[in-house]
Amino acid sequence: MPSPRRTFAIISHPDAGKTTLTEKLLYVGGAIHLAGEVKARGQNRRARSDWMKIEQQRGISVTSSVMTFEKDGVFFNLLDTPGHEDFSEDTYRTLTAVDSAVMVIDAARGIEAQTRKLFEVCRLRNVPIITFVNKVDREGRPVFELLDEIADVLALDVCPMSWPVGMGGTFEGVLDLKTNRISRPDGDSRNFQGRVEEAPELPVDVAEEIELAQAGYAAFDAEAYRAGDLTPVYFGSALKDFGPAELIAALADFAPPPRPQPAEPAPVQPDEKDVTGFVFKVQANMDPQHRDRIAFMRLCSGTFKRGMKLTPTGHGKPIAVHSPILFFAQDREIADEAFPGDIIGIPNHGTLRVGDTLSEKPGVRITGLPNFAPEILRRVALKDPTKTKQLRKALDDLSEEGVIQVFYPEIGSNWIIGVVGQLQLDVLLSRLEAEYKVGANLEASPYDTARWITAADPTALKDFMDLNRGALAKDRDGNPVFLAKSAWEVGYIADRYSKVTFAATRER
Ligand code: G4P
Repeated sequence: MPSPRRTFAIISHPDAGKTTLTEKLLYVGGAIHLAGEVKARGQNRRARSDWMKIEQQRGISVTSSVMTFEKDGVFFNLLDTPGHEDFSEDTYRTLTAVDSAVMVIDAARGIEAQTRKLFEVCRLRNVPIITFVNKVDREGRPVFELLDEIADVLALDVCPMSWPVGMGGTFEGVLDLKTNRISRPDGDSRNFQGRVEEAPELPVDVAEEIELAQAGYAAFDAEAYRAGDLTPVYFGSALKDFGPAELIAALADFAPPPRPQPAEPAPVQPDEKDVTGFVFKVQANMDPQHRDRIAFMRLCSGTFKRGMKLTPTGHGKPIAVHSPILFFAQDREIADEAFPGDIIGIPNHGTLRVGDTLSEKPGVRITGLPNFAPEILRRVALKDPTKTKQLRKALDDLSEEGVIQVFYPEIGSNWIIGVVGQLQLDVLLSRLEAEYKVGANLEASPYDTARWITAADPTALKDFMDLNRGALAKDRDGNPVFLAKSAWEVGYIADRYSKVTFAATRER
């Protein structure tokens, strides 16, 4: 029997403390030995640990994507979600690869915009959430107000698992409501968690609050949590070490192990013998010397062994995975197996794409990794017109990675790129320059959105396409796409051509 796996992500609004908490979790989990190592500003933000060695050998950077640690016999795979203000497809796809999430909230700010969006993605997939209200060492909002906000805004039952005894200037520690133990600030600086006391005497107002809370909020119910109906709420301070250990214990105790994955023809169960996984992320050009890329595969069933042959569903021959990057291993040199819930990095030359299912069993396809209709479309104009070939290559690569979507119009030579969030445009331009040496400008395009078009009746599709040639394009895979000037136009055209389906997402 493999050790239990907990594959999870942290969701939060920028500045709530995700980086700090990540660092502390890795520290408590023994994966890093010095506090402060995850925390490097800007480009250098990454966790240092044993797998740095592999990074140096291969000259690639993988640490920020998957962070793994083992504690008391449980393996934790922490998948990083890009912490942008903008919602990106990358984030969505990462959340398809986890079994649960930790939601970090700033005690002074409560639920913020990005937390809410990410939460909604989790809800779509019934991903259960543990809530961590961070920064109680500083002045924050009243505890009841925070709990009620979580309950109201997210429409979840909340169950406080711990309680801050004061905040900011009056902060005296965090009480574990189950054990009735308090962690108090202590130690050299008298700031960090240090002293644990059993059945402490509490200030009267706090004791009253706790009594009210225990009567008023739902009792903890593991089933309701796993179904995504209830969130246990922990209070703490990532910076000052209140909470990270409790979060790890909570993940180990009740976060779900690898769950069945939606798939065709039938869901993939984690205890199936055949190895099946799906690619949720592809990272190109991690090594400027090589044009290799790493496909990140989440293993859903079976025991993966180094050198194993897996077939990408829908295209291609079986590929032998000879040099997988196995994130779960403490000592990567000898690791040669992976289990459901683990993430495997597969170096390849562009054969593997986001959304691909890889399996020993023919015909399985994991579902539910959509392409989103882009909300921003731009025309790409080359600064140096002789670089057309390089540009095409770059756009193909980056669309394969999911950074952008690319559309090649049927008429004319102006390629159109589409993104879901503004930030992806900046990423595109800087990567074109840095990795492909292609200077480009993004110009306004006459289009506002795109729809994938299909029809059960081929004549209906052909009729539509013949009459609307000027607004047609192909996506990277050659699927026909209708470029529309507005959402209104989509509605108008869809009414006129009722036999044609105009889809805002395309499942891969
Ligand atoms: P993020 O990844 O979610 O964006 O947040 P990050 O961990 O970078 O934390 C944002 C800021 O909040 C940082 O301060 C960090 O030190 C602080 N912080 C995180 N957790 C706590 C906490 O529990 N208590 C308190 N008081 N502060 C916390 P900064 O000033 O932006 O960065 P730095 O100068 O401290 O590095």
